[in-house]
Amino acid sequence: MKIMVVGGGGREHAIIKKLKENRRVEKIFCLPGNGGIAEDAECVQISSTDIPAIVDFAKKTSVDYAVVAQDDPLILGCVDELNKIGVPCFGPDKKAAIIEGSKVFSKEFMKRHNIPTAAYEVFDDPKKALEYLKTAPVPTVVKADGPALGKGALVCMTREEALSAVKEIMEDKKFGASGDRIVVEEFMTGPEVSVLSFTDGETVIPMVSSTDHKRALTGDLGLNTGGMGTVAPSPYYTKEAEKAALEKIILPTVRAMKEEGRPFKGCLYFGLMITPDGPKVVEYNCRFGDPETQVVLPLLKSDLLDIMLATTNGNLKDVPVEFSGGAACCVIMASKGYPEKYEKGFEITIPDDVKPSVYVAGAKLEGLKLLTSGGRVLGVTAVAKDLKTAIGEAYKLCEKIKFDNSYYRTDIGKKALAALEKEV
Ligand code: AMP
Ligand code: GLY
Repeated sequence: MKIMVVGGGGREHAIIKKLKENRRVEKIFCLPGNGGIAEDAECVQISSTDIPAIVDFAKKTSVDYAVVAQDDPLILGCVDELNKIGVPCFGPDKKAAIIEGSKVFSKEFMKRHNIPTAAYEVFDDPKKALEYLKTAPVPTVVKADGPALGKGALVCMTREEALSAVKEIMEDKKFGASGDRIVVEEFMTGPEVSVLSFTDGETVIPMVSSTDHKRALTGDLGLNTGGMGTVAPSPYYTKEAEKAALEKIILPTVRAMKEEGRPFKGCLYFGLMITPDGPKVVEYNCRFGDPETQVVLPLLKSDLLDIMLATTNGNLKDVPVEFSGGAACCVIMASKGYPEKYEKGFEITIPDDVKPSVYVAGAKLEGLKLLTSGGRVLGVTAVAKDLKTAIGEAYKLCEKIKFDNSYYRTDIGKKALAALEKEV
């Protein structure tokens, strides 16, 4: 089989490495991929949002299957266009991808179906939003409606911050048209858990849970980032939380999407907060998480391609989806300064025996040299029998990888481990 993967970060690298375990896979193309992914797939310099070029490439190379892994092309309708030329895809169509593409849609959807989430108000007029925020409770969260590279949610601890968030998003158009409407949300508290799930529109199979670390610096300090490390399973996802999430959130979401004529096929990501009142939805994503995928897929024992094909073909209930009982930890090695300004172009050295544990996010090839080219550079994952061992192993692997200007948090999984030890 010839497979095309659309995207080019650590998540896509993890998907590709897992797909390669299936012997039916003859060739994988990655659009655009990156210098590290190039070791495992043929990278093609086509932007992941250039839908006509992606379709053209799929036609020319007669790909048998496409995995659209990144949010933007999914929201833009990449799957719809590929399906039109007869290419089956892993990933939702445009109608279903709106669950991530519009925060207003997802909040109204949850309200319609009584799915637990933070209380909210929607505004399309900045004056009304500013007026509302003069008396609304703080802290609060102001979110741009549309996609904003994961940066569209501003947690505001004070009224002043909330007012300036509205100005930035709606008046200065920091996220362009994505900020034409906003959602102002009640501030929730509790640990966060990501539950990625496979679904064919009818059957839904949650994967092992995980917890991301969004802040840039050790000690949960610094700015929010795309994610600086993950652990799986998440100790915050207790049996009780899991039962509540399944009954009140996961099953109702998949059922309601189908009822509304938007059956969701692919990976539906539930970003949950385990509040004192039980799990509530922070956000839905229409794709695998990054860097959650880098801990979830290494724990998957079953064949990824078979599962993906079953989500496309609607027979997920007939396919085994099993995870190993161990734990995994992924530490992101970033460029110092990320998510703001950072220098790049430094050579990366990864010993051969460490390579299987590395998912490359931001690096390019120059001749035979691998150079840093992004804020998040590598994800380094260790799998072990328990979380404590996995964390220790992941950090040992990081020490063996060298590049100038590197930075990684030294506390990935630390709080999770403390929570786990308290439980036992
Ligand atoms: P989002 O893009 O909606 O996932 O939000 C990004 C991050 O902001 C989340 O992972 C949370 O840490 C935080 N956040 C979003 N919404 C809320 C909320 N209603 N209450 C507290 N924190 C939130
Ligand atoms: N790790 C958060 C996300 O993938 O959106």
